[in-house]
Amino acid sequence: MKKLNIGLIGYGFMGRAHSNAFRRVSNFFDLEYEPVLRAACARSPEKVGAFAKRWGYETQETDWRKLIARKDIDLIDIACPNDMHKEIAIAAAKAGKMILCEKPLAMDGPEGLEMVKAVEKAGVPNMVWYNYRRIPAVTLAKELIEQGKLGRIFHYRAKFLQDWTISKDLPQGGAGLWRLDVKVAGSGVTGDLLAHCIDTALWLNGPMDKVNAMTETFIKERKHVLSGKVEKVGIDDACAFLARFKNGSLATFESTRYARGHKALYTFEINGEHASIFWDLHDLHRLQYFEHRDEGRLRGWRSIHVTDGDHPYMGKWWVPGLQIGYEHSFVHQVADFLDGVAKGKPASPTFRDALETQYVCDAVLKSAKQGKWERVKS
Ligand SMILES: NC(=O)c1ccc[n+]([C@@H]2O[C@H](COP(=O)([O-])OP(=O)(O)OC[C@H]3O[C@@H](n4cnc5c(N)ncnc54)[C@H](O)[C@@H]3O)[C@@H](O)[C@H]2O)c1
Repeated sequence: MKKLNIGLIGYGFMGRAHSNAFRRVSNFFDLEYEPVLRAACARSPEKVGAFAKRWGYETQETDWRKLIARKDIDLIDIACPNDMHKEIAIAAAKAGKMILCEKPLAMDGPEGLEMVKAVEKAGVPNMVWYNYRRIPAVTLAKELIEQGKLGRIFHYRAKFLQDWTISKDLPQGGAGLWRLDVKVAGSGVTGDLLAHCIDTALWLNGPMDKVNAMTETFIKERKHVLSGKVEKVGIDDACAFLARFKNGSLATFESTRYARGHKALYTFEINGEHASIFWDLHDLHRLQYFEHRDEGRLRGWRSIHVTDGDHPYMGKWWVPGLQIGYEHSFVHQVADFLDGVAKGKPASPTFRDALETQYVCDAVLKSAKQGKWERVKS
């Protein structure tokens, strides 16, 4: 196997998810390339050192520029907050590195476009970690739609609900809470949670034409961890929008961090002429499927346990009936990326694919601000 040396930036939630995927992928998938955990990078030498030791990284860096300058690094993995993605990705592209970047691609569309231009000019393999595409039940949904099982699509319905920011005492900014600071996150639930729903939707149902959105910031001021002062909150705490897809279907999307009782309830439902599909992150190994062409008396929602060897990715894991989880979606994404590198065929979503999601997010935020329908740039 050819070695592919990874330089990871950021050791938080996603730093762990990616490292786990890099470590496991070669055990389960037959690939030409094998990821090598060469270097982990973050600002604190103690913290990144402890992380590197725990996950088996050979070396550590505290300055991402030094990491990018290293000759022994083939791929830069960006797993740090959103405001850093652009600068790192462009520098990495200029240095000729392959790039994996966390979502959302950028703070907004124009930033995203700069990143797309940089990777395309450099000709480096690139991908964005919209990992939900690689949950086997979601990939199966894609296959069913491509086979035409649903027929014409009428409706797409998605939501992503959480409840962790309801307390007004929660500060904004700094470790863990950068998501509440608009200067670092770019937006609130739109770029954080709806971006996932939008990526899946564009993948399953094609491009979006226009959107009409409303957003709300329920807690208007919060103490900022870095300045110590009470500052205006600039993110959207909740967002709901209507959309028209180019295939003529109508859609609703909703996301909030104020839905008491919900931790990460991501669901989508698609209603077609012949069949409907429903998926729920809390039951991620199942796909609910309704087929109208079944014999009338037996018609009903099927709950497909997506664990058989002929289900997407499942032949690589255990035996039929034994399910896998959230972390495996990252393993699948690395496997597809490495396979794409070997075959010279980029795995999706590339930066250019992810830019489409960024444009929808931009249109959603603009529509909410202006109170009218907004066409999605493409
Ligand atoms: N794909 C997904 O499902 C998913 C889930 C969560 C987060 N994300 C995305 O992943 C990214 C990181 O989110 P997270 O939840 O892992 O955040 P986190 O707060 O858990 O970790 C962020 C990491 O970035 C590091 N960092 C910050 N500034 C740095 C600097 N100047 N140099 C080097 N390292 C620096 C921090 O030390 C920390 O290790 C974000 O873009 C987020 O939107 C994606």
